[in-house]
Amino acid sequence: HGPETPHGMGPVPSPSLLRQRQHSPHKGTHGSVIVIGGQQPGPQGTGMTGAAVLAARAALRGGAGRVYLGLLEPAAGTAAAPVFDPLQPELMLRPAAALLHDPIAAQSVTVCGCGGGTAVAALLADVLATCPRLVLDADALNALAADAALQAQLMARLDRGWQTVLTPHPLEAARLLGCSVAQVQADRLGAAQQLAERSRCVVALKGSGTVVAAPGWVPSINPSGNALLASAGTGDVLAGLIGALLATAEAGLEATAQAAAAAVHRHGRCADRWPSEQPLLCASELLNCL
Ligand code: APR
Ligand code: MG
Repeated sequence: HGPETPHGMGPVPSPSLLRQRQHSPHKGTHGSVIVIGGQQPGPQGTGMTGAAVLAARAALRGGAGRVYLGLLEPAAGTAAAPVFDPLQPELMLRPAAALLHDPIAAQSVTVCGCGGGTAVAALLADVLATCPRLVLDADALNALAADAALQAQLMARLDRGWQTVLTPHPLEAARLLGCSVAQVQADRLGAAQQLAERSRCVVALKGSGTVVAAPGWVPSINPSGNALLASAGTGDVLAGLIGALLATAEAGLEATAQAAAAAVHRHGRCADRWPSEQPLLCASELLNCL
């Protein structure tokens, strides 16, 4: 409450209250996230639309102001892409290619790969060239592992001041490093650090004790999380949550690594707080804990 005005016109807002009002957040304050993935079912499609939906919903629940869901277009002759998410109508659905060619891409964090199937490979060069802040997960990582030109393009992003977070599980990390899963698991800190140095990206090597690494940094092991997370879709939720936290993070490698580590910690903590009388946790239930 501020002091009364001399003319009895009611309270004058105190300077701190004015400052608060000037800075009152609107949806733009919380940043935008684009999710690209979700290959449609069809002759070539794997039908993992749900993975991209989970990531997009997680970005929204994680606090992003606006979330666009860019589904990979269905193969000719297959069912059309959904036009909205009935359970999360806040999400804005657009064809993935249209989002990439919209100025929105330059202003957003992009999460690419969840349920992308084989279709994501065709878009990945465009994604790497267009999206300054990027999280690559699942099939985007598999496409990257199979293509040396994409790997070179990924490494060059840092020279433009563009940050990328890779979120491999051990098999995806093994493909990227060209080694076995057993080798990754035998030295998780070393594997995550090696991948971070080679790719010049922030890396979250998932699994029990997710390792977060970045070039030139000492990697850390996340202490939260438990085996309740070992169910399909929880990785997609993590990718979306990292996107949401990056959307309000400052630019730079350090802030990017910290946002990724914070998201990993929060994701694990949701599972740690899950009521012990409920023995199972589905990825879509994890969304409600975020
Ligand atoms: N303890 C702690 N955390 C765990 C544990 C565990 N025992 N097991 C799994 N997790 C966490 C991981 O750290 C990660 O955050 O759960 C998440 C699982 O993520 P993914 O392995 O990516 O699994 P997800 O994507 O949800 O589902 C499998 O991944 O690569 C794709 O196409 C593949 O369909 C497959 C899908
Ligand atoms: Mg996954």
